[in-house]
Amino acid sequence: MERLQKVIAHCGVASRRKAEELILAGKVKVNGKIVVELGTKVTSSDTIEVEGVKIEGENKVYFLLYKPTGVISAVSDDKKRKVVTDFLPYVKERIYPVGRLDYDTSGLLLLTNDGEFANLLTHPKYEVHKTYVARVKGLVSRESLRMLERGVKLEDGITAPARAKVVSADKTKNKTIVEITIHEGRNRQVRRMFDAIGHPVQKLKRENYAFLHLGGLGTGDSRELTPHEVKQLRALAESGTK
Ligand code: URA
Repeated sequence: MERLQKVIAHCGVASRRKAEELILAGKVKVNGKIVVELGTKVTSSDTIEVEGVKIEGENKVYFLLYKPTGVISAVSDDKKRKVVTDFLPYVKERIYPVGRLDYDTSGLLLLTNDGEFANLLTHPKYEVHKTYVARVKGLVSRESLRMLERGVKLEDGITAPARAKVVSADKTKNKTIVEITIHEGRNRQVRRMFDAIGHPVQKLKRENYAFLHLGGLGTGDSRELTPHEVKQLRALAESGTK
């Protein structure tokens, strides 16, 4: 089930805002009946007409992007900063990011026009595991790693069990590289977890998303997921396997 305005927007007929205007203006029919309520839920079996023209579902597409730092995980930005979809100009479908990476975080980000798939992967109940490599200030002790693994208290609650290990430590530069795997997706979670243990993050990169990795991609590069990868991701999320 998806919101009507979202479905219209994803079919490339209009922007989300324009779709809302069309609905409010009584120009949208669902199964032959005018619908003026924003947020009406529809499924793929409903027939939707916009100004008398039946809309066809867009092909579902799935991409993996190596997001550079200094890019917003969005499809547009008021301040005209670079957005992730700028890196996939060859995609004509209206894709958007699955979850988000911070402006200053680089790494693996999925993009799709499949709302159900995106919801599934970002649903708190099903969140798949993600691995980040963080360069943090200070030398991280074993005890601190254990705190990350057991769960740290953040303002929105204690974090779920995670895995963390030191990749390397530099005493002279007073910094540590830590690999951390989490399966939640709270806002700025990794940065806040390291803040909570007194080791602010200086650099953050997402290396893995479930079984996916960046492979040989360079920063700013993207590739389409294979049908098998899409199937596996869906199965993984649906099974609740973290
Ligand atoms: N955790 C963060 O703090 N930032 C990200 O971009 C992703 C996870």
